This record gives sequence, structure tokens and C-alpha cells, in this order.
Amino acid sequence: MAIQAEQPVHGSQVEEKKNVHPEETSELVSAKDRTFKAPESNAFGQSFRDYDIESERQKGVEEFYKLQHINQTYGFVKKMREHYKKLDKAEMSIWECCELLNEVVDDSDPDLDEPQIQHLLQTAEAIKKDYPNEDWLHLIALIHDLGKILHLPQFGELPQWAVVGDTFPVGCAFDEKNVHHKYFKENPDSKNPAYNTKEGVYSKGCGLDNVLMSWGHDDYMYMVAKENGTTLPSPGLFIIRYHSFYPLHKEGAYTHLMSEEDFENLKWLHIFNKYDLYSKSKVLVDVEKVKPYYQSLIDKYFPAKLKW
Ligand SMILES: [Fe+2]
Ligand SMILES: [Fe+2]
Repeated sequence: MAIQAEQPVHGSQVEEKKNVHPEETSELVSAKDRTFKAPESNAFGQSFRDYDIESERQKGVEEFYKLQHINQTYGFVKKMREHYKKLDKAEMSIWECCELLNEVVDDSDPDLDEPQIQHLLQTAEAIKKDYPNEDWLHLIALIHDLGKILHLPQFGELPQWAVVGDTFPVGCAFDEKNVHHKYFKENPDSKNPAYNTKEGVYSKGCGLDNVLMSWGHDDYMYMVAKENGTTLPSPGLFIIRYHSFYPLHKEGAYTHLMSEEDFENLKWLHIFNKYDLYSKSKVLVDVEKVKPYYQSLIDKYFPAKLKW
């Protein structure tokens, strides 16, 4: 089954000049979230093919963010969290989920006609080379996008705006550093005095753990890992949960909500992010060859079967 990409997404790098993140554009996200401005070449020195449809894609990105900014409200996020916390959709191993995500192939990205598992393994192998002793980081690379199964019918078939794209806190004012910030005006929370101040329902330094983030594949996978009793270290869980939080890790917004531990963890997220974005390659990883290593990491940090 190949799920067709509909619309561009990962676009913190598109519109307003101050928010342009050209270096991040190669993130392989999901079937539906990969129409971004491509950098000149990838980590392997290969040239990316040109798009003739750049402006079309930008329109699509903008349309995506409009929907996302209007619909991701505090109430919506609470509802999603409650619903998915039941973990009643499936029981499967981490590797089974990798294979499931593999069914998602993006036909819209000329540089990404490889299955998802290639992005995951390419990222993981690249990190492993530079950080050989941080085995947890290798595993994080493998699993960081598994939450994109939210696109699949058996996991609710959520629309793009509830799965991918940049994430941001809800329950407090939407920082201007969010891409396409203007569309937040149409979010009902913008008019709610409980939610539209700088700190909103939170307090200074409360820690991101106490902050509700817009709902998407990051928070879902974090929830799955946590609820299934993973033994991954704190920075690993932080990477899973906030890797799409571009307003923070790229733009430096929302730091007033962070705790000391968040600042420590953010250092690892910055490291991870470079690999996530630049590891697209035509050089395919031999899945069967590397599988035993990654399976050993899965066995170390996760139970054999997880509830999803
Ligand atoms: Fe992601
Ligand atoms: Fe990714």
C-alpha cells in the first residue's frame, strides 16, 4: 500500500524571511509532509533535483499551516491526548511498526522515493558513525517518526495538520516566531484570555513536560514509548517529543517555559536534528544486514510488544 502525498508540509522554512530554515528542508517526514524547499545537496554530496513547482508547493505549505493553526486548539489537544492515551489501536513490536510505516511512500518528493525505513536507518547509521557510544541515540533515530502511523486508517487516519508540520505549545500565546503566524488569528484560543497571554495556563520555567504541545506524530510516539515503559534516557524521549518543535530548537522561542533539564536535553536535540535533516540518500541501507543491531537496541530499551 502506498499512501499518496497530498500536500506540502514541513514548512517552517517557507514563508516569512525571518522564519526561513533552508538547511532543514530535507527532512524526510511522512507520506504527506514532504514538500519543502530542497537544499542544494544532501549529506552525501548528491544534488537534489530541482522543482519547477516551487510556488505551488509554497502555496500548499501555507494552506497546510492555515489549517493547522486554526484547528490546533487547547481543547483539541486535550481530546487527542485522552483518546490516544488509551493505546487501544494495536499491539505490535517496534520493528513491526517500522515495517508498517514503510508502507507509506511519498511520490511527491523527487528526492525521497525510498521507503520510510530508509530515512530512519540512514539517519540512525549516520548518527552511529559519529556517536558510536550513544546507542540510545541510534535507536531514537530509528523510531523518531513512527508516530506518523497516525496517518493510517487503523490509527485514526488523522489529517496532515494533526500529524506533521512544526509543533508549538497551546494554552499560551502563539509566539510570532511560529511560521505563518498570521493564521493563529483565526484560532479561537487567540481570543481566549485564559490562553492568549505569554504564559497562559503555564508559569515561567514550569518545564515543557507540563506544557501541551500541538498534537502530532512527535507527542504520540513519546506517549507510546513512555506508557509502554521504555528505559530510554531523558534526552532520547525529549528528542522524540520535540523534534518538530522548530519554534524552539530553530528560532529560540518559548524558552521561558523551559526547565533546567529541558535546556540540557535541547543540546541533544540540536545534534539529532542535523542528522534527521541531512541523511537523505540514494545509498540504501541493507536492512537485513543492520537489523540485528537495531533489534538488540529495541530489546534493550523496549518490551517485545507495545500497545499503540
Ligand atoms: Fe518527524
Ligand atoms: Fe525524520
